[in-house]
Amino acid sequence: MLVPARAALVTSLLALPAAAAERDDHSFANPEHVRVRHVDLDLDVDFDARVIRGTAMLLIDRTSKDAKRPLVLDTRGLKVEAVETSSDCRAFTEGTFELGKADPILGQPLTIRLPEVVQAVRVKYATGPRAGALQWLSPNQTAGKKHPLLFTQSQAIDARSWVPLQDTPGVRVTYTARVRTPKDLLAVMSAGNDPAQKRTGDYRFEMTQPIPSYLMALCVGDLEFRRLGARTGVYAEPPVVARAATEFADLEEFLKACEKLYGPYRWGRYDVLVMPPSFPFGGMENPRLTFASPTIIAGDKSLVAVLAHELAHSWSGNLVSNATWRDFWLNEGFTVYLERRILEAVYGKFRADAEAVLGRRSLEREMADLPKPDQVLHIDLKGRSPDAGLTDVPYEKGALFLKHLEAAYGRERFDAFLKQYFDHFAFRSITTAEFAAYLDEHLLKWDPEKSVKVKVREWLYEPGLPGDAPNPSAASLAKVEQLAKVFAAGTLKAADLPGKSWSAHEWIHFLTAMPTDIGRDKMAALDAAFGLTKSGNAEVLFQWLLLAVRSGYGPAYGRLEGFLTEQGRRKFLQPLYQELAKTPAGKERATAIYRKARQTYHPMSVEAVDAIVGWKEEK
Ligand code: BES
Ligand code: ZN
Repeated sequence: MLVPARAALVTSLLALPAAAAERDDHSFANPEHVRVRHVDLDLDVDFDARVIRGTAMLLIDRTSKDAKRPLVLDTRGLKVEAVETSSDCRAFTEGTFELGKADPILGQPLTIRLPEVVQAVRVKYATGPRAGALQWLSPNQTAGKKHPLLFTQSQAIDARSWVPLQDTPGVRVTYTARVRTPKDLLAVMSAGNDPAQKRTGDYRFEMTQPIPSYLMALCVGDLEFRRLGARTGVYAEPPVVARAATEFADLEEFLKACEKLYGPYRWGRYDVLVMPPSFPFGGMENPRLTFASPTIIAGDKSLVAVLAHELAHSWSGNLVSNATWRDFWLNEGFTVYLERRILEAVYGKFRADAEAVLGRRSLEREMADLPKPDQVLHIDLKGRSPDAGLTDVPYEKGALFLKHLEAAYGRERFDAFLKQYFDHFAFRSITTAEFAAYLDEHLLKWDPEKSVKVKVREWLYEPGLPGDAPNPSAASLAKVEQLAKVFAAGTLKAADLPGKSWSAHEWIHFLTAMPTDIGRDKMAALDAAFGLTKSGNAEVLFQWLLLAVRSGYGPAYGRLEGFLTEQGRRKFLQPLYQELAKTPAGKERATAIYRKARQTYHPMSVEAVDAIVGWKEEK
């Protein structure tokens, strides 16, 4: 059979000395001794108990000569009921296991004693009540209001809260799954999904390509499918699916554009699943099935960059993955670069340039408050959650580095390099050092004259931005910036701004160019002229509400509360709560809103906001 053979090949590649090097600070697993290569799930999704229970059978290989080594898995909050081992994948015998001490960040190691000759282990388990990856939504938290919905979010280190596995991106597995659900709901996974699948309550999945654990994903709900193109489509709840299909009409074009640049799409279908509004991210690149926040549906395609981004991960991130969370920029920096190349190909240079300008500005603003070590691409996250690395640095500084390489070597040469890079490392997980070695060998060395212009070590290992970092510009945004200055200075009235014709990008740029507090009068004038408090564009509204909090603009508070309770995207919640928490009155308002909203947020957003408002469980 093709599948295991391919998995075996990848396993042997990964066992080469080069990959043995760097430890993952965020996993207890011991792939250097025993490595999981395939996961077979058999799961019951119990909406009443809000528990997933079942078995995970793991096919394993010994990767060192030491045949006494146990298998160490990552878990978080799992109830492990039994463990069995097998030397032939047929007969299983009860084994001994130990759940280690719980680490607040990493969870608990599950150590399983193995016979010398072993092929598989089977873990019988159930998820815990606070599984970080899971959000169980009651019907009234969904768009359709009739059925409950469950979804997972595994990245970065929460796959271990719903599956016992080696939860490190350095280990890749193929997977199969059988998932039982209530009969009237559909299950989809980051695997092969059949658009014509009927609702049976008993679903089977297969992911034949080896992926890191953070890409394992499941959603169960009242989902409908709409075709977009030959290989693309959208899943969403019935009330959302038509709007989503219209907004995402260019998806097939994105796919073709990316293939033209970086080689064939290797995953079969590419579908997007529109999540309920509590989804904690804008998008998540689950292979073959991106999960996306409904907040990217603005009505005018202005926020579809998120889709270009998640699609691009099919090359940067899913095909070639970061080996540890220190190397996260390899996923995100490359992906932001690719995302903008897709936007340029489909919509034109002006669109990509606008995104790049907003990106660099956002990076500068954020970096001003970041400690030096956190401004480094190859960031040290030991002792901290990988979330600590979720800043603009891996995204925007990473993308600037690639843009810098492009500028130094020319687009043609750099495109060829990237295509070759994706091909060379396909279905493997690599470290920053491996990338740097490959870059040296396949780009820099070929033109030493140009390579002196590229300070690789400074880009990868030092804080801040090199002095010669690219500084993108966009004519339309420069104009807006000029207007922002005169408006803020008070020499131009709101009503005289040409804001009615501005794109979402122009508005975002205008609002982020404002001083931190522009005063209530200017806020009121802007609102009267352009109805910003009523904006239907989540990114524009977010910037507006931030400014409203800073400027003490009361008329926007109602909408602020609405925004904080109607959606749960961490990128929006975190800064708004943070801004509110800066004053005693604001903190009170934040706590009052949070008291109602908390139960509607995903555990990952809850974790972030708890820290900001100082939430205590017993409240
Ligand atoms: N893979 C990320 C989301 C992520 C990162 C989840 C780390 C958990 C841990 C995804 O591709 C992403 O970057 N999403 C962005 C949108 C993007 C356009 C910058 C988001 O959710 O805002
Ligand atoms: Zn991303």
